[in-house]
Amino acid sequence: MKLKPTLIAVVLSALAAHPASAEFQRQPRVSGIETYGYKWNPSDQDMNKALAYKANAKKGRATYKICKGCHQADGSGLADASYPQLAGQHASVIIKQMMDIRAGRRDNPRMYPFSGEWIVSAEEIADIAAYLNQLPPPAGNGKGDGANLALGKHLYDQDCASCHGKNGEGDAKKFYPMVAHQHFAYLKRETRESRDQGRRNTNPDMVKVLKNYSDADVAAVSDYLSRLTLPKK
Ligand code: HEC
Ligand code: HEC
Repeated sequence: MKLKPTLIAVVLSALAAHPASAEFQRQPRVSGIETYGYKWNPSDQDMNKALAYKANAKKGRATYKICKGCHQADGSGLADASYPQLAGQHASVIIKQMMDIRAGRRDNPRMYPFSGEWIVSAEEIADIAAYLNQLPPPAGNGKGDGANLALGKHLYDQDCASCHGKNGEGDAKKFYPMVAHQHFAYLKRETRESRDQGRRNTNPDMVKVLKNYSDADVAAVSDYLSRLTLPKK
């Protein structure tokens, strides 16, 4: 894990300011898709607060210092899938994923210490999300080997475009992520984990379409998506 000294200082001061600092490191775990009766995107007080708040991208730019040691200053993440690209992502999606991580609906032990209210309030998360949403798509991103793009496009158009959009643009109102121009390795991992129900906050209707996907199918569709470009902001 690559952490900048300033980031470490921010976290240490937040930990020191909080009485129960030992608890920070351990992410809670609430039931997810592995549980019978799972409901995707349950009502979440913190999320409602962040969504209702009138976000300020300029303030978000400053608060993003907590995140940029991992997700990079331009929101590009890393191609090796260790950190997803966040630049250009829908604010609603960033807010939902953040609240899922903080509530323990999406496992992310590495990020958990940077996600709780001891370090960012719901309003600050909304500010960061507004800031990230208006960042231009980073120039480069990780792509696959290009060997099965026709299959990837076929699968995407048939099974995924109805939710994620014709060009992978997602749908902010429905919390469907933008998947175009994301890093290949991250797309592949998240798609595979969703299929295998390892991404516990995943959408059950998406799991249904993925059920019969081989790893090669997942790689083909991920490669196709990593090459889609988004309109310039
Ligand atoms: C210590 C490194 C680290 C820090 C700091 C960090 N993150 Fe993350 N973040 C990650 C990792 C790792 C993942 C991917 C987890 C996975 O694969 O499920 C992630 C995933 C995410 C996602 C999900 C993206 C998606 O496409 O679903 C969002 C949103 C996010 N981070 C926002 C933030 C914000 C906002 C901050 C600052 C408040 C932050 N992160 C700080 C490591 C970090
Ligand atoms: C029924 C609508 C639906 C369909 C169909 C669907 N998805 Fe999704 N997808 C979603 C939703 C909703 C999420 C976010 C889930 C969550 O809350 O974590 C998601 C998340 C993802 C992610 C993770 C994005 C990120 O930033 O972490 C990837 C990758 C993905 N989908 C790929 C696909 C692929 C490939 C297909 C087709 C094989 C597909 N999806 C079909 C709704 C759908």
